[in-house]
Amino acid sequence: MNTTFDVIVIGGGPGGYIAAIRAAQLGFSVACIDEWKNSKGGPAPGGTCTNVGCIPSKALLQSSEHFEHAQHHFADHGIGLKDLSIDVPKMLARKDQVVRQNNEGILYLFKKNKVSFFHGRGSFVRALEGGWEVAVAGAGQEVLTGRQVVLATGSSARALPGAPFDEERILSNDGALRIGGVPRRLALIGSGVIGLEMGSVWRRLGAEVTVLEALPTFLGAVDEQVAKEAHKAFIKQGLKIELGVKVGEIVRAGEGVSVAYTDAKGQPHTLEVDRLIVSIGRVPNTTGLNAEAVGLKLDERGAIVVDEQCHTNLPGVWAVGDVVRGPMLAHKAEEEGVAVAERIAGQHGHVNFDTIPWVIYTSPEIAWVGKTEQQLKAEGRAYRAGSFPFMANGRARALGDTTGMVKMLADAATDEVLGVHIVGPYASELIAEAVMAMEFKASSEDIARICHAHPSLSEATKEAALAVDKRTLNF
Ligand code: FAD
Ligand code: NAI
Repeated sequence: MNTTFDVIVIGGGPGGYIAAIRAAQLGFSVACIDEWKNSKGGPAPGGTCTNVGCIPSKALLQSSEHFEHAQHHFADHGIGLKDLSIDVPKMLARKDQVVRQNNEGILYLFKKNKVSFFHGRGSFVRALEGGWEVAVAGAGQEVLTGRQVVLATGSSARALPGAPFDEERILSNDGALRIGGVPRRLALIGSGVIGLEMGSVWRRLGAEVTVLEALPTFLGAVDEQVAKEAHKAFIKQGLKIELGVKVGEIVRAGEGVSVAYTDAKGQPHTLEVDRLIVSIGRVPNTTGLNAEAVGLKLDERGAIVVDEQCHTNLPGVWAVGDVVRGPMLAHKAEEEGVAVAERIAGQHGHVNFDTIPWVIYTSPEIAWVGKTEQQLKAEGRAYRAGSFPFMANGRARALGDTTGMVKMLADAATDEVLGVHIVGPYASELIAEAVMAMEFKASSEDIARICHAHPSLSEATKEAALAVDKRTLNF
């Protein structure tokens, strides 16, 4: 097998595998090295996203949402059900099948694009004249040489000091996605994206879920109005969310875990649960790279230091995705992967950080792009805001899901859309229109003048645009 390449990509998650494919499309000879193993020890490219992140979490969110609908909402449609039950092993097997399909899809794409795939750990050996030597430690040991190297090694869950993950009772995202039966009592530390998504899955299936959050505000990065609306909905569903807590000692006790904490008023508590998920953020993966040997610069968090172009301090070495600064999102990693491949080809790859959408796949879904109202106020920027509730949208009523709204923020003078914030049904899909509008520097009037299909949830976006000019038609 060839061992000399134009481009070597280390890491086969969304940042790495997409960089490899784009580089191959541009005519380079490309190797992609990834160490993730499936349950049989075989390759499982796709990284955190495919194996223990985006894809399996959405599979479980879907299954648990079906269960919740059958339990609480089918009756409204005149559908009767007897003996509703949940077969957790079957639900997990379906999720595993979805993951496998994605793993296999990536291997197929590598073949189609003539990307050479190496299963094992990639690490730097030494600098060469105009390139790099990279070792692959897998079933055997191989040494590759590449003119350019793209690092896309991703991130791993951060553990709390004194409470290492055992993936049996104290769980990271990995263990959280394969709990073999519905725990009676579940605690999550951190009410960020994973806390809310995983908390929702197990709450819908019947667990008593408590989320402990250190910060005094709920979803502080989200537009306040949207965060309030979401908080109200989660509490109504039965999620217990404690803000402003200080987590103390965590011990495995009896069959479960006991979590000591003080609440916002300084009162001490102990929470006894069957399982604990710790979702307090993630740390970049750089330990296996032999970074010291070649002088690759890392910051104090262990992330690889890059410039705006994703170039590291080493010539011909780039880094993308969770292992560098910026939001830890699969689509951000992909965009950087494409941009780097294009820069290697001498093109002008570009990532617009101002229009990267965020989505939290709870029910209601939360999605946003651009600035929040708090940010605009802090910047002293004059803006106009308009919002439209799904309660006044015909399609939402027909769906039986009228929670939430679309909110639009536009510059007071130019009317350029500065931010769109959605909480409600299919917010994850609706946000794409807002991203496109902002990428094209649309005004709220542009959106208000576009014909939107009726009845559709997207009409709420048009109405929010009309609301900026205080002329909604249906509210
Ligand atoms: P990763 O996906 O982490 O991939 C890195 C790969 O490199 C891994 O396969 C790893 O094994 C491999 N690797 C590391 N070191 C080496 C080495 N030395 N040699 C060989 N291989 C190596 N983001 C979203 O946008 N939407 C979501 O819905 C979403 N849901 C998520 C849900 C959960 C539970 C979690 C944990 C994350 C979620 N994310 C989501 C975040 C998303 O998964 C990450 O942002 C994304 O995977 C980052 O891609 P990446 O390519 O940088 O790294
Ligand atoms: P997060 O950064 O979203 O949330 C972590 C939360 O934990 C914060 O609210 C923080 O204040 C809190 N926290 C930190 N230390 C704490 C402590 N000691 N005690 C109590 N609370 C504490 O991180 P999370 O949920 O682990 O997810 C990691 C990343 O993965 C996300 O930031 C996101 O980038 C990505 N992700 C994206 C998803 C999506 O796009 N839908 C889904 C899941 C994850």
